[in-house]
Amino acid sequence: MRRKLVVGNWKMYGRLARNQTLLQGILDGVGQLRNADYAVCVPYPYLAQAQSMLQGSNVAWGAQNLSPHEEGAFTGAVAPGMLADFACRYVIIGHSERRGLFHESNEIAAAKFAAAQKAGLTPIFCVGETLSERESGVTEQVVAIQLDAVLSRFGAAALSRAVIAYEPVWAIGTGKTASPEQAQAVHAFIRRRIAQQDSQVAQGLCILYGGSVKPANAVELFAMPDIDGGLIGGASLVADEFVAICRAAQ
Ligand code: PGA
Repeated sequence: MRRKLVVGNWKMYGRLARNQTLLQGILDGVGQLRNADYAVCVPYPYLAQAQSMLQGSNVAWGAQNLSPHEEGAFTGAVAPGMLADFACRYVIIGHSERRGLFHESNEIAAAKFAAAQKAGLTPIFCVGETLSERESGVTEQVVAIQLDAVLSRFGAAALSRAVIAYEPVWAIGTGKTASPEQAQAVHAFIRRRIAQQDSQVAQGLCILYGGSVKPANAVELFAMPDIDGGLIGGASLVADEFVAICRAAQ
């Protein structure tokens, strides 16, 4: 049995005081839960705050992006080793907002994936189709190309130290969730594709669903055989909602 994982993606939200209340609420709500794993991926400036509040708890922390470079003259960028300095466990790679708003290609996402692993971080590698891609029936082709960016470069073994997040772009922040069956179909496709290279890695791989996960739909999504938890945006900013989703993963 794979363990479930619930990760909050705070995106560009937060302030010191608000974060403190949110993190305390999460600790109060999930601190005693033992049957799944939990994490929050926070904006860079709040990594120290997350570390100091969460260390020693069952809630891990991480970042939402990183530079593929170890160091150098890259103004404004953050190196993988810097995230490791703050004991990050996870880093989100290839989120559709990075791909869309910041023009990150599959090549860049792959380089960041490798850089994260080299620094000892677990990449949460995001894939997912747009609405027009789904409507034109090319969801599997799109997801396969995104997945192959890491699978063909680094092999299935690299995925044994990674998490995949399937996030249909049309479901992110829209309140429109993929149905459990729609999500399950793509999760199963991802697992099958990896199994063609290595069935053991595929069986052990944690594949999260992301896109308008709320307390009201988390239970039925997490009940699907290939959905191993969630990557939660909006609902991760409200302690009660995030805690309810974490409980749904129990
Ligand atoms: P959402 O975001 O839950 O607000 O749809 C998910 C994500 O972007 O990771």
